[in-house]
Amino acid sequence: MLLALILLQGFSHALAANHGSHWTYKGPHGQAHWSNDYPDCGGQAQSPIDIQTKSVQHDPALPPIEPQGYRSPGNGAFTLLNNGHTVEMSLPPSMFLRGLPQTYAAVQLHFHWGSRGQTGGSEHQVNGEAFPAELHIVHYNSESYANISEAKQRADSLAVLGILIEVGDVANPAYDNIFDRLKNIQYAGQKVSIPPFNVHELLPGQLGHYFRYNGSLTTPPCSQNVLWTVFHQRVRISASQLERLQGGLYSTKAANSLPVPLVDNYRAPQPLNQRVVFSSFPVGPSAYSAGEIVAIVFGTLFGCLSIFLTIHFVVKRIRTKRIREQKDVVFKSSSSRAVSGDSHRP
Ligand SMILES: *[C@@H]1O[C@H](CO)[C@@H](O)[C@H](O)[C@H]1NC(C)=O
Ligand SMILES: *[C@@H]1O[C@H](CO)[C@@H](O)[C@H](O)[C@H]1NC(C)=O
Repeated sequence: MLLALILLQGFSHALAANHGSHWTYKGPHGQAHWSNDYPDCGGQAQSPIDIQTKSVQHDPALPPIEPQGYRSPGNGAFTLLNNGHTVEMSLPPSMFLRGLPQTYAAVQLHFHWGSRGQTGGSEHQVNGEAFPAELHIVHYNSESYANISEAKQRADSLAVLGILIEVGDVANPAYDNIFDRLKNIQYAGQKVSIPPFNVHELLPGQLGHYFRYNGSLTTPPCSQNVLWTVFHQRVRISASQLERLQGGLYSTKAANSLPVPLVDNYRAPQPLNQRVVFSSFPVGPSAYSAGEIVAIVFGTLFGCLSIFLTIHFVVKRIRTKRIREQKDVVFKSSSSRAVSGDSHRP
């Protein structure tokens, strides 16, 4: 029995090795080395990217994204899995997207996040700014391909919605449908069922404003067949919701005596190279990043303060000079009076 188990384990390890080698975000198997085992990761059209709004091209023909079947995704439970790299929730093909060049059916959604006390966690950045987390909803081209496994290897086969997540004051109840179950899948390989819920509520309100570009999967094998839609509007969750994502999961199996926290599972921005990022909305010439705004505000304040101080000191100087001159006059006149008084002395 034990022997059979050991053999079985060895067999599944061999299978796992065949299906692709081990990868992580940091260390000897980290993102800098992905292309050794997965050549596409070194390609010219990789994701994520830093979206520079100054260089984005407005395409007024890009229509709003229309998610179909998102609000009531059937009666079948979703499966939430800790796969050692992220938490991933399976989605039924009854959920699909309109508003893209073809119809894309939903496959799964998953998250990328950082670690407690650190900024960053999202994969996409906007003008060099990273966000605390990012949600990816993965779809395959169901018009051209029978299923995701057939689509995976081919061109034009995937469409991913990228939702940037930031921290606000109040909890986002839609996200608790997922976050409430994380305690049941702390370790890699663990799964839990979730009753179907309104997935549309995970999306930002404004589905008409987004960035669009051709890119890749952000994890090995980094296949360059993803049509990306990154929404301009961010979604907000509370700080404690973010902490549940950052604090409760491990990338190792339950049996492992050295548990490794599942944190910082985001890839660094990749070179844009020859690609163009389109926007469905006019981004406007005054699209400054938070850093630039801070710089401008402080620069202006500092400028105003220096001008104020300069004027203040100049005025003060002129005044003192005048007072001194007046005193001089008073002194001179009084001394001249004194002198003249003297002269009146007998
Ligand atoms: C996917 O579709 C192909 C082609 O129709 C088929 O051969 C394959 O069995 C399907 N795979 C799954 C997992 O359904
Ligand atoms: C993506 O690539 C395809 C094929 O090269 C091209 O037709 C399409 O315009 C590109 N889309 C974007 C958003 O760059």
